[in-house]
Amino acid sequence: MAQSFDVQPLDASFGAVVTGLRLPDLDRPSWQALHEAWLEYALLVFPGQFLKKDEQIAFARRFGALEFEMGAVSNVREDGTLRLEAEGDDVVKILKGNEGWHADSTFKPIAAKGAVFSAEIVPTVGGHTGWADMRAAYEALDEATRERIAPLRAYHSLHYSQKRIGHVPKAGTDDYRRLGFAGDENVLRPLVKIHPDTGRKSLLIGRHAHDIPGLSPAESEALLQELIDFACQPPRLYHHDWRAGDVVVWDNRCLLHQATPFDMTQPRVMWHTRIAGDPVSEAAVG
Ligand code: OGA
Ligand code: MN
Repeated sequence: MAQSFDVQPLDASFGAVVTGLRLPDLDRPSWQALHEAWLEYALLVFPGQFLKKDEQIAFARRFGALEFEMGAVSNVREDGTLRLEAEGDDVVKILKGNEGWHADSTFKPIAAKGAVFSAEIVPTVGGHTGWADMRAAYEALDEATRERIAPLRAYHSLHYSQKRIGHVPKAGTDDYRRLGFAGDENVLRPLVKIHPDTGRKSLLIGRHAHDIPGLSPAESEALLQELIDFACQPPRLYHHDWRAGDVVVWDNRCLLHQATPFDMTQPRVMWHTRIAGDPVSEAAVG
């Protein structure tokens, strides 16, 4: 018997809030029902789960192999002090970079499948996370734009996207490696992605995308910005106002996401478990 849980769709083209279950206690039929809901809604929000680290990792593993187990997305150092923007801290620059719409690990040879993301400490104002539905965005494009972008590809690079916000990371440091700069291979990806599980098409864009071959740099930048501006609008948007203990799982294969600003004199501690993409369907071109 599947455990019954409640799935309340968000007021958007995607996403649902799931209550009435404890994630560590999911039996197999419930897991299967939850996985179906994930493929349909692309973002599931589980308020008040307060998962322990091993519980978060175990839940994420049900979706597949992990790219990494538990990454702190945080402005707090291990010694408890706050990282300050004025100090030019590489981690803070990455947090600021996250405010641009993006999908995770698209600049690596294999992009991410998704993420389990949880809130441990939240600031009193701001620090929400937003998602945007790239399936609904693709479907909302006019026919001429769909035809124009069908054959196009773009390079994806973290060095590119961070440089655009004025950040050139300090090479050779632990943060350089941990934050993904060492894994940046500036790979080529199509602008239209087919979801490996649902077959639905979606726009594959975001801040890491640049320099569409066949277009001038200016044309490319204009088109990519135009697509983001069009795509990331209601009813394709949801921003989550976190409470400590909340957990979400998103499908990185068809959503973009963004951080939003917060008062950095307050701590914000989030935990990111990244689910690895399929080596075939999330592989870069070539
Ligand atoms: C991430 C990310 C957004 C946030 O962890 O990949 O983009 O709100 N986080 O912290
Ligand atoms: Mn991200």
